[in-house]
Amino acid sequence: MATNRTFTMIKPDAVEAGHIGGIINMITEGGFKIVAMKLTQLTVRDAQKFYEVHKERPFYGELVEFMSRGPIVAAILEKENAVEDFRKLIGATNPAEAAEGTIRKKYAKSIGENAVHGSDSDENAAIESAFHFAGREQF
Ligand code: CMP
Repeated sequence: MATNRTFTMIKPDAVEAGHIGGIINMITEGGFKIVAMKLTQLTVRDAQKFYEVHKERPFYGELVEFMSRGPIVAAILEKENAVEDFRKLIGATNPAEAAEGTIRKKYAKSIGENAVHGSDSDENAAIESAFHFAGREQF
């Protein structure tokens, strides 16, 4: 069943660079309502689990190290067609290929350190949201 929610993280590179406010502004300007949000940090085990689908990829170790190296902002966003529309707003994984006006075009440094995460399906949005937020933290 399609839902109207997606899950996002502002990744350590963007938090370190002071882009939390700029990215949240683009998200809300894009028509998304924030229904859960926290500043938190993934442990190495959290990052391994979160990115388990990529564990056979050559960049897995680098990805786990990057995602656990500092604080992130985790959030659940609400909007009609949230998953697809948010992936449009963040832009291509590789910022060199990201369209003008996207979050990654503006804030991402590289294909690995690409500023933001967006769920790729309604099913993963629900799994990823539950990974970070208790029911009472979701509004
Ligand atoms: P995201 O699409 O949010 O989730 C998977 C992450 O793996 C991706 O963002 C990047 O951070 C990372 N990633 C994908 N491709 C590469 C790559 N070729 N080299 C390094 N990291 C990558």
